[in-house]
Amino acid sequence: MSSSDAFARAEHALGARYRLERAVAENSERVLFVGQDKVLNRRVSIRVNLTGEDPLRAWFLREAEALAQLDHPAIRHVYDVGVVGEIAYRVGNWIDGESLETAAARGPRLYPAVHALARDVLSALEHSHTQGILVRRIVPAGMILSHSGRGTVTDLRFCSWALPAIPPGIEPSGKAFMAPEVRNGAVGEPASDIYTAGAVLYFALTGMVPELDPEAIPRPSDLRPTTPRAVERIVIRALQRDPRQRYMSAAEMLEDFASEAGTFETVPVRPGGAQVAATVGAGSKEWEKLLRRALGDDYELLDAIGSGGFGRVYRARDLHLEREVALKVLHPALTRDPAGVERFRREAQHAARLSHPNIVDIYDIQGRSGLLWYTMELVRGPNLAQLVEEQGALPIPRVLRLLREALSALSQAHAQNLVHRDIKPENMLLAPGGNLKITDFGLALALRGQGRFSGATSQSGTPQFASPEQLLGERVDQRSDLYSLAAVAYFALLGYPAFTGATPEQILARQTTDQIPDLREERPELNPRVVRVLERAIQAAPDRRFASAAEFQQALREASRRTFLERAVDMVRRAANPPNRGSS
Ligand SMILES: Nc1ncnc2c1ncn2[C@@H]1O[C@H](COP(=O)(O)OP(=O)(O)OP(=O)(O)O)[C@@H](O)[C@H]1O
Ligand SMILES: [Mg+2]
Repeated sequence: MSSSDAFARAEHALGARYRLERAVAENSERVLFVGQDKVLNRRVSIRVNLTGEDPLRAWFLREAEALAQLDHPAIRHVYDVGVVGEIAYRVGNWIDGESLETAAARGPRLYPAVHALARDVLSALEHSHTQGILVRRIVPAGMILSHSGRGTVTDLRFCSWALPAIPPGIEPSGKAFMAPEVRNGAVGEPASDIYTAGAVLYFALTGMVPELDPEAIPRPSDLRPTTPRAVERIVIRALQRDPRQRYMSAAEMLEDFASEAGTFETVPVRPGGAQVAATVGAGSKEWEKLLRRALGDDYELLDAIGSGGFGRVYRARDLHLEREVALKVLHPALTRDPAGVERFRREAQHAARLSHPNIVDIYDIQGRSGLLWYTMELVRGPNLAQLVEEQGALPIPRVLRLLREALSALSQAHAQNLVHRDIKPENMLLAPGGNLKITDFGLALALRGQGRFSGATSQSGTPQFASPEQLLGERVDQRSDLYSLAAVAYFALLGYPAFTGATPEQILARQTTDQIPDLREERPELNPRVVRVLERAIQAAPDRRFASAAEFQQALREASRRTFLERAVDMVRRAANPPNRGSS
């Protein structure tokens, strides 16, 4: 029978009460229509059986009865059932949405959606079991997901109310979503439906139909490496061949899911070293627990990268976009002041507008449960302080490249009126290819406020890279960043900070009396013109420095451009003796 034929016959039989709109699914014996209930004035689904008087007709009606026995939001309701001449029908609620099969065709479902599906399927099964009905099979095509994310079971064809067991002659479709014992003709038990739930969740999680043989089913994490460990454990337990190895009830499986919700742990978090514990102090376990709960279904913590004056930085996974990010959580003590938080948000929004290859991208800022965090591009490499600690003073071309990249970043940021105010080795990250990525743009001092000595502190706890005007609590502008950058260049060339001191006052005293270490002494191979550029950049008085990043950049470019003669001499020299880093 053609579908227009079926439509005409169904309309003829049901037209007094229902207005049929269109067929949405069909096979040789049944058609599903969406229509309108003209009396109650609501959209309905109308399932029609066209086989006439035969066992399939009886089966169809038994399934309708089974649906009517159940009253659960995740199981399709039945409003009306009847037989009119050749046609049997059942009317139920219409669900606006798509099938799990359609949704998964776009790719595996997001983890939070898998959790939501588990809740719906398992609570539906639990309800069904209390009514004495085994569902036995749920296929992805019959699982409808509403736009709001709720899942509904719409098909109970193989349930124990409709069939005592799968009859030998019948070859059900979607056998992979049936427990092995049920496929083999057993009546089944609640644990059989656990298998079915496991198979549906496996499909949602991986986008793959599980193998028929439970032993041959690949682990979800083999197909989707980021699969949360807890979800994998639960799904695998549900898919055991031996029903006694599965959960005993849907409620038990649901409980396991619920207690793991929001954990999404794949790797245990290990602190990034003593430094982390020292900053956060005791109660660090508590903090992490609180943080995990606050992050909920949005981010999963992977491990701690480090900590600074404001909080901690973690490597984390964005569970929606499935990518790794760096997540910085601010110390709760800092976020207690609403004005500070407001200032911080504004700065973060401002900084998020920057887009430059040498600036860490800010992705998102969020707060929940009294915690405030933001996420950013994850840089998989050391910061400059760590690099120098490990390798000592850096080769000159390496430092020049760093300066070039930093100046390019600063000139863009400054053009947008954004001053970093905390340029220091810890905020200069080095990506695997050696690219510089500057982090914490404008954010550091948003929280610290701008009082006297509010200037940037490095890991030593003293503001070795802050400009004199910052240390004096004066107004800072872009020239302050350029000063700090010059101090960073000194640090990279010397292997130690240019100005040291136990207190900000001592540092300030060294800066203002221009007690600058002599680069020519420490790095004799350094081009004297480059030395002069750096000396100018690190002058205590702002108006004796370069006025802008562009000017600094230009001076550096000119200084490092070597004359023909210099290049020739260099070549002869290099041929005579191999390059020497010449650091102290
Ligand atoms: N986007 C990122 N990707 C990778 N690692 C990062 C990222 N941002 C920061 N880090 C690492 O985390 C460490 C801690 O950063 P954090 O900003 O908390 O401290 P800090 O820079 O040492 O001091 P401050 O609190 O003054 O900024 C940094 O030293 C850096 O190595
Ligand atoms: Mg930092």
